[in-house]
Amino acid sequence: MDALEIIKKRTSVRTYEEKPVDDKCKAELEKICEEYRQGPFGSSLRFQLLDLGKINRQELQSLGTYGVIKGARLYILGAVKEDRYCMEDLGYLMEEIILKATVMGLGTCWLAGTFNRGSFAKQMKLEEKELLPAITPVGYPGEQHSTVNGLIRFGVRAHRRKPWEELFFNADGKPLSKEEAGTYRDALQAVRLGPSATNRQPWRLVRDLHGKYHLYLKETPLYNRVLGKIRIQNIDMGIAMCHFELVARQRGNQGSWQVKEPELDFPGLKYIASWLED
Ligand SMILES: Cc1cc2nc3c(=O)[nH]c(=O)nc-3n(C[C@H](O)[C@H](O)[C@H](O)COP(=O)(O)O)c2cc1C
Repeated sequence: MDALEIIKKRTSVRTYEEKPVDDKCKAELEKICEEYRQGPFGSSLRFQLLDLGKINRQELQSLGTYGVIKGARLYILGAVKEDRYCMEDLGYLMEEIILKATVMGLGTCWLAGTFNRGSFAKQMKLEEKELLPAITPVGYPGEQHSTVNGLIRFGVRAHRRKPWEELFFNADGKPLSKEEAGTYRDALQAVRLGPSATNRQPWRLVRDLHGKYHLYLKETPLYNRVLGKIRIQNIDMGIAMCHFELVARQRGNQGSWQVKEPELDFPGLKYIASWLED
């Protein structure tokens, strides 16, 4: 399936049907969770499928999402060992899992803030130096007009994305046109349509004079640091890398993400990584 089409199909689902996820999809998700162990920057990751139907009542009460998620019985929990790029790695791999679930017709919703982290972490039996940055429910999308979902989507203007010219630039700071992006046009569009924490869309990409793309974070420092070691906006960066790479490759641009900071002057932006063609 075309990666950009899958990316367009994904939206945050906060209300689910009671119907359990069918066994075939569940088995496939289990397999993916077992296989996804290392991110593009080398951090060690661990994903776990958690079936709330198998948990006793007392424990179940503590596994809350502050009323944000309704009806979901299955969750994917994503843990990572502390490392320099662990948040990007987690964002990258977990978004791949989310897109695979989307292909199966399942709904998901990135949660890095509104869930009881301590209780979910207990279910995962976190090891030393392991963090649980995010989880997502997985299930069949239910009635999406619940009050909580409506309030959140309205509050963060969930369907809105910043215009292209606020996100993508040439090395001289001028906006990059769609024509200039050439075969990378859809890859950039895929970044733009990605989910981000409270829909802040902190990703910026600069195309240099050699046609290389460099990813930067426009950080909201207080917001990004509110959860301590868990940097929500660095997770957003990993999601952007995943979207860019999947679509770039499908459009015939082979390459990989590497940390090789260019000498470009973009005050206020934090360098993350560069897409270097093979
Ligand atoms: C890293 C990350 C963390 C998020 N955390 C939460 C959360 O704690 N609670 C929530 O309701 N939504 C959360 N979201 C979902 C965003 O609000 C949502 O992706 C954004 O508003 C765009 O809407 P869309 O996903 O429907 O395209 C998170 C998204 C990302 C990428």
